[in-house]
Amino acid sequence: MIRDARLMPMKAIGRFIRYSRLLVLAAAAALCGAGADAEVSIPTFTGETLPDTDGRHINAHGGNILLVGDTFYWYGEYRGDGTPGSYQQGVACYSSPDLRDWTFRGLALEASADTASLIRRGCIMERPKVVYCPATGRYVMWFHHELKGRGYGAAMAGVAVSDTPEGPFEYRASSRVNAGIAPLNMPSENLLKAYSDTLEWWTPDWYAAVADGMFAARDLAGGQMARDMTVFVDPATGQAYHIYSSEENLTLHIAELDSTFERHTGRYIRIFPGGHNEAPAIFRHGGKYWMITSGCTGWDPNEARLMCADSVMGRWTQLPNPCRGPMAGTTFGGQGTYVFTLGDQYVFMADRWNPKMLSDSRHLWLPVRFDENDTPFIPWPEDRN
Ligand code: GAL
Repeated sequence: MIRDARLMPMKAIGRFIRYSRLLVLAAAAALCGAGADAEVSIPTFTGETLPDTDGRHINAHGGNILLVGDTFYWYGEYRGDGTPGSYQQGVACYSSPDLRDWTFRGLALEASADTASLIRRGCIMERPKVVYCPATGRYVMWFHHELKGRGYGAAMAGVAVSDTPEGPFEYRASSRVNAGIAPLNMPSENLLKAYSDTLEWWTPDWYAAVADGMFAARDLAGGQMARDMTVFVDPATGQAYHIYSSEENLTLHIAELDSTFERHTGRYIRIFPGGHNEAPAIFRHGGKYWMITSGCTGWDPNEARLMCADSVMGRWTQLPNPCRGPMAGTTFGGQGTYVFTLGDQYVFMADRWNPKMLSDSRHLWLPVRFDENDTPFIPWPEDRN
């Protein structure tokens, strides 16, 4: 029943808004395949070659999984084969009815042949994440974008949209994040401070300046740096967030996206300043928010970190390494990219990078378990070497 909000008392309006929001969430859940969770069990992958339905190793790295109806979509970096001159061709899309048999659907976003395009061939498009936006009915892809020939200096977030999950996605824009807007949790005196630009990196004075927000203040006018990233749609509220390594990869930012999921609202926080976190993967469990990150050692693996908060924009605390078993100290030789949730199943997705041939980087899909305190951990599967 649609009611005229002008005739409703305040409390009833509040209930009506909450109810309408839940209806939108329920409709989104139905579209995004809430039905598939009962039947499909998430497979475990431990770094073996993973052929698609054409027999080729799945070339989708640093990406995510999205369930639409009864079909799973896997997005990721479509990397070159390592031969001289081979370049990243864009973002790949695969589909599957069961998370086991994957069919290549082509490039959801292709590097452009147009040399004037920001996504021209030879640029870098890393860690793409695709989510469905119930407010617009569009699929929204965010990715870490570096410009051709500029190494990792641009540190921008790119966004592309599509009416269908396979795409092709239409590239919209790339930029640094929230230009001219200060983080919510940075005292204004820290923004105005005169930071010395001669501080030697990794010294106590430099760490203190980083914690105060030296780099956030430096980048205020032009926007915050955004490299390794994820997008998280809170299943409890439908609010979307862009979470990225900022401030020279030293500090994570969590930035709200607006209801289109295509733009930032301007509200963002800094977490773990100077913590050097990359590869954020976030999920909700037991009424809490959990994030798994890596350290910053390029393509080489390092020890994963676990963080927890009561709300996404709240106070985050760090817990010990969530990995258990052989090679737990190097995230089993991988670096996380996403935690995919299906009903009460959670899988930690990670890449074992092969920098000599990035397309042959291997996939780890490891079930996330919960201990007696309901804290997540990732055991190496006992039946695998
Ligand atoms: C890693 C990062 C990857 C890629 C790589 C390049 O630290 O997680 O996405 O950027 O560095 O060296």
